Amino acid sequence: MKKIEKLYEGKAKVLYTTEDENLLIQYFKDEATAFDGKKKGIIENKGILNNSISSHLFRRLEAQGIKTHFVDMPGEREMLVKKLRIIPIEVVVRNVVAGSLAKRMGLEEGTPLKETIIEFYYKSDPLGDPMINAYHIKAFGLATLDELKEMETSALKVNRFLTEFFDSVGITLVDFKLEYGVHKGEILLGDEITPDGCRLWDKQTKEKLDKDRFRRDLGQVSEAYELVLKKIMDQPKGKRA
Ligand code: TMP
Ligand code: ASP
Repeated sequence: MKKIEKLYEGKAKVLYTTEDENLLIQYFKDEATAFDGKKKGIIENKGILNNSISSHLFRRLEAQGIKTHFVDMPGEREMLVKKLRIIPIEVVVRNVVAGSLAKRMGLEEGTPLKETIIEFYYKSDPLGDPMINAYHIKAFGLATLDELKEMETSALKVNRFLTEFFDSVGITLVDFKLEYGVHKGEILLGDEITPDGCRLWDKQTKEKLDKDRFRRDLGQVSEAYELVLKKIMDQPKGKRA
């Protein structure tokens, strides 16, 4: 399957049409942004690393019965995906206090949470992705109640699997962001699951292995993404989560 025409260019990826009207190619770039695009940079080889990480995780999630847009990885920066009508909501799942939650609640990063928290954000760059709740989602018609319930159920299932999976390779899954869309009437997990949209901490050293290294100028950004890929690919057989 080859790229035909550029459909949309985002901050970290480009979407291309293919000869199949139901399929798109998601092309992963090295560009990185933070703080609503105010901070820009390049993370060397990020596109290649993120495509491999995300493809691997989508395959593992599919094997757990979680429906995703993933079809294949035809190139080192290319992911073949089912075409979605994107639901304009970012679903954030949190297991440990960090980032904006630490700020909002005046808590130390790393404080464990008694229960998993799900938050919703309205996907809008000009507005800076404001936080919303189920009432906003229904009132503004961003998703139906059924769609919302399905996204929540899927996000919790993704969290259960990924928390155990990352734990088995020595990484704490602190929090992450998911996006969903509709394909032929079905809700599928879309976008990507990569260190760009997850907080991943080394279990022992607590070292950050994610985009916070870029956001906070901690250095060794590509190296951290590389380490995540290596750890998830090296997972010993028989210990598969
Ligand atoms: P936050 O603590 O900044 O709200 O981020 C929570 C999680 O969501 C974190 O893993 C990073 C991810 N995230 C994105 O993927 N895109 C974004 O634009 C933001 C703000 C966060
Ligand atoms: N996704 C970015 C971040 O995680 C936000 C942006 O793209 O501006 O900070």
